[in-house]
Amino acid sequence: MYLVTGCAGFIGMSLTHQLLKKNKKVIGLDNLNQFYNEGFKKKRLSILKKNKNFKFINVDISNKKKILNIFKNNKPKVVIHLAAQAGVRNSIQFPELYLKSNLIGFFNILESIKITKPKIFLFASSSSVYGYSKGKSFKESDNTDKCLSFYGATKKSNEIMAHSYFHQYNLSIIGLRFFTVYGPWNRPDMAAYTFAKNIKNSKKISVYGKGNLRRDFTYIDDVVASIDKLIFKSLKIKKPFFEVFNIGNNSPVKVSKFIKIMEKKLNRKSKKIFKKKPKTDLVFTNSNSNKLIKFIRFKPQTSIESGLKLFFNWFNKNSK
Ligand SMILES: NC(=O)c1ccc[n+]([C@@H]2O[C@H](COP(=O)([O-])OP(=O)(O)OC[C@H]3O[C@@H](n4cnc5c(N)ncnc54)[C@H](O)[C@@H]3O)[C@@H](O)[C@H]2O)c1
Repeated sequence: MYLVTGCAGFIGMSLTHQLLKKNKKVIGLDNLNQFYNEGFKKKRLSILKKNKNFKFINVDISNKKKILNIFKNNKPKVVIHLAAQAGVRNSIQFPELYLKSNLIGFFNILESIKITKPKIFLFASSSSVYGYSKGKSFKESDNTDKCLSFYGATKKSNEIMAHSYFHQYNLSIIGLRFFTVYGPWNRPDMAAYTFAKNIKNSKKISVYGKGNLRRDFTYIDDVVASIDKLIFKSLKIKKPFFEVFNIGNNSPVKVSKFIKIMEKKLNRKSKKIFKKKPKTDLVFTNSNSNKLIKFIRFKPQTSIESGLKLFFNWFNKNSK
């Protein structure tokens, strides 16, 4: 039995879909909050619900009693924890939401796995933990004590909290530092979707730092494949372990280039409003993925051109 939290989210839905395809039984948890258009989450869920091996529970991870009961009743072998308040910039305006889901909610999940002891627990961290990192690419061993956003701080806290539970309770745990994930079923508040939608509808797009910020855009199928392979490998390891992995493409792209590719695909020029880089944003992100490659013999490497092509195949059918 697999348990995926945040199953109605972008990454959660794509991962659950893949697990179901491999005939795994999956319990998915999500509170379907309205942080972004709820319709997106309902559509994603309706696809998952077609599979008889999928069971959905609408629950908030900040409710400890309910979460503990779900874990005790189901005793999942593998837990993939993706539910969180996502997004860097909103953590300035709504820090309480981040505190509730990313810290209290995370604690409740840790308390649950302490009791039910799954074979492996994987959770979503983020490239945002890298803050001041200055090297050409970010390595897991870099100092990550100086986050630039409260969002990043909650993710770094998750890593520290999880390590203490690994040590105290002999659990096997993996932290996943995702780098700007994009693809079909993209989060509608992220650049891939907002840019595509606004360019298509001749609306303005906000571009930060003159379009010179660089992001290590990582295609969703590479993320799902990485998680799948990490689970497979972990289940073979007998001793409890704690590891953190970058899940990124190691190929940063300037936002201005990202927009140019989109303009080509949509055959339309964008109307840009240039804005100052928010204090919370890193100038660039770039995943050094050597640790991941060594562990699972796989590297996320879909090029931005191929990834956006696949994204638009989906977008053209699924956007108004
Ligand atoms: N998408 C990215 O580029 C990216 C990058 C770095 C890290 N991450 C992390 O990966 C994870 C998944 O991200 P995503 O892009 O799929 O985001 P998402 O917002 O689409 O998915 C998160 C899901 O969690 C659910 N959720 C949030 N708070 C909850 C709560 N208190 N109780 C129950 N459910 C709750 C939401 O309803 C949502 O469906 C998150 O932890 C995010 O912080 C994502």
